[in-house]
Amino acid sequence: MKFFALLALFLSGIAQAAPREPETYVPGLGEIMGSIQMRHAKLWFAAKGGNWPLASYELGELKEGFEDAARYQPDFKGKPIAEMLEPATRKPLSELVKAIDERDGAHFARAYDQLSRACTSCHESAGRGFIVIQRPTAPPVTDQRYDARR
Ligand code: HEC
Repeated sequence: MKFFALLALFLSGIAQAAPREPETYVPGLGEIMGSIQMRHAKLWFAAKGGNWPLASYELGELKEGFEDAARYQPDFKGKPIAEMLEPATRKPLSELVKAIDERDGAHFARAYDQLSRACTSCHESAGRGFIVIQRPTAPPVTDQRYDARR
């Protein structure tokens, strides 16, 4: 009897130690948007500081954010986010790439405002018209240099 009790205890220990399937973590759309917002703001200050390699980097990260939104949240409360993204952002994103390549501040500012309007209109069509995107007036964090000095 004692033997079986010990055996049962032993086996239940093994069962508990067995690895469990990891739960897959899916980031929410609001979270993904938060990091897109950070990139959007840094992008502005990188260009303003003439740090074009940083601007190019932040734009790449911002695009990855959009890709994440399409991959992880293709449908948001019945809105086909994945399908809305590309047509809404294609033009301003390609203009930003050009402006950064040309290191052209005026072109950059126009394309940036176009992108911000695209952000806001998607929010409007997704029933989030109260989330309005504009040029940032202050850097989002100040422990990173946005200018081109080393
Ligand atoms: C294809 C549609 C779409 C585009 C394009 C889009 N967003 Fe969003 N965004 C949403 C939706 C939908 C929400 C609401 C998510 C929620 O309620 O969980 C949102 C939420 C947000 C939020 C609120 C997050 C918070 O916690 O305060 C911010 C900030 C944001 N977006 C920034 C941006 C920026 C910046 C851009 C452009 C660079 C952008 N979004 C482009 C659909 C979009």
